[in-house]
Amino acid sequence: MSDFQQQKNVHYFPGHMAKALNALGPMVKGSDLIVEICDARAPFSTRNPMLSSLIGQKPHLLVLSKMDKADPLITQAWLETFAKQGLIAFTSDLKHEKVINVLLKMSVPLVEKKRAKEARLGMKKQPLRLLILGIPNVGKSTFINNLAGKKAARVANRPGVTRAEQWIKVSSDFILLDTPGILPMNYPTREEAVRLALLGSIKEEVLPIDDLALTLLEFLKVNYPSSLKERYGLEDIALLNEKEIYSAICQKRGYLLPGGAYDESKAAQSLIKDFQENALGKISLERP
Ligand code: G4P
Repeated sequence: MSDFQQQKNVHYFPGHMAKALNALGPMVKGSDLIVEICDARAPFSTRNPMLSSLIGQKPHLLVLSKMDKADPLITQAWLETFAKQGLIAFTSDLKHEKVINVLLKMSVPLVEKKRAKEARLGMKKQPLRLLILGIPNVGKSTFINNLAGKKAARVANRPGVTRAEQWIKVSSDFILLDTPGILPMNYPTREEAVRLALLGSIKEEVLPIDDLALTLLEFLKVNYPSSLKERYGLEDIALLNEKEIYSAICQKRGYLLPGGAYDESKAAQSLIKDFQENALGKISLERP
């Protein structure tokens, strides 16, 4: 085991975290509905537990993005867990599915109070002001583009204009802050940091790639052995240790160093790439 693997705490700066969260205060204050995005493959590590103190009683909806990449049974279990906690959540493939209708349906119970107040005052139904929040790389911009489409792109691409935050009208139901709120990551343990790196929220270079791949391999061997078997044509995977699995991958793929030794780094890189590109199938890194 490397020094890195033995290291328990990677980076954890509570002071920075509080500062970053406080900076989002005005954005939260100006919105009616907080849409938090997390990655369906690791809904624990890709959320920030301090968010609830930031948003207080504001209506809050959770979106598990990248449904198309996550293990569907595990995603279902997560949705049931969140429902039990009283948190309204849904999952989506933000790249390929329009979210506006599901968003509309899910937001109804969350904004009952606001709607009742409007009715009491004899006001017309006002569009909801949405704030999209999440840690890096979970799909915040994709969500905004999914809802606002060309409207978001047009504003963002105007050259030579220093933009302040802008509200974009999506429909008579929603207006959207065109800039997402970026939540700081919370990764008190090495395991969580590794998952965040595999999912692209922490830059891979920050953690040694061989360590990332080894952790992934150990995880897949236990949780998704048939994916490994199929992808790399391996037999009796339970009998092989990680080194033997790397050797088998190198042999099958012809990953050899100039002297003829197996190029294990190349096997490590291709394992990570295969996971990220779903060549190993739909895989979730965390269960509820
Ligand atoms: P962020 O604003 O939270 O940082 O995330 P962003 O929307 O930039 O999304 C990060 C990456 O995740 C992008 O990939 C985006 O396309 C992808 N993504 C977002 N939501 C989904 C989803 O539901 N399913 C899938 N499969 N991918 C999703 P990229 O490689 O950086 O860009 P691209 O080549 O996909 O455009």
